[in-house]
Amino acid sequence: MNNVVKENMKIGVESLETISKTDLADLCNITEQAIKAGGGFGWLNIPPVESLKKYWNGIVLIKSNFLVVGRLNGSIAGASQIAFNPPNNEAQKNISKIQTHFVAPWARGYGLAKAMIDLAIEISKENNMKSIQLDIRETQSAAIQLFENKGFIKWGTNPSYAFINGSRIKGYYYYKDLL
Ligand SMILES: CC(C)(COP(=O)(O)OP(=O)(O)OC[C@H]1O[C@@H](n2cnc3c(N)ncnc32)[C@H](O)[C@@H]1OP(=O)(O)O)[C@@H](O)C(=O)NCCC(=O)NCCS
Repeated sequence: MNNVVKENMKIGVESLETISKTDLADLCNITEQAIKAGGGFGWLNIPPVESLKKYWNGIVLIKSNFLVVGRLNGSIAGASQIAFNPPNNEAQKNISKIQTHFVAPWARGYGLAKAMIDLAIEISKENNMKSIQLDIRETQSAAIQLFENKGFIKWGTNPSYAFINGSRIKGYYYYKDLL
């Protein structure tokens, strides 16, 4: 990547409580692109756009979740969700989970994913979380490197985490304590 082009890119991260029409269109577009590129979601095939809209509008209705988005020159280019446990789960009330953390292929390499993790950690600490956790398919090597570089520790493996095109895929489990 040309450095001059890179310097002109402005990155930003924030947590969204509502989604504007433009942001919704961006989220649907980058979700399609991430699915096509092979990861970050449970979806293996691109669903109809109405399903994607429903999905994202539903995410901001879940009050125990935070939707973190990463922007490149103002447009949403990545997203991540922080999930907290429901109030009945007192034993795990100080644990948050990072889910569906991804950046659109054209926006990778600018630091958006790292910035979204930093914000997820900040929000988790503000909400009295003591540990932040996640799981990843073994095939997501960039994400594995990313989270390990950010100090997440692998504590386990599920040999039957997913089945994709007939292949059994392992899943890795990570935690990072925030104490
Ligand atoms: C993983 C992902 C989020 C990284 O996004 P990004 O915006 O390019 O990441 P950043 O620019 O913030 O950070 C780059 C870091 O990610 C890791 N990384 C990114 N691409 C990598 C690659 N091809 N190989 C190894 N590590 C890689 C490195 O740790 C890198 O740090 P470095 O530049 O200091 O070496 C992106 O590749 C993606 O969306 N992948 C598919 C979705 C996914 O796997 N999500 C995980 C589900 S929880």
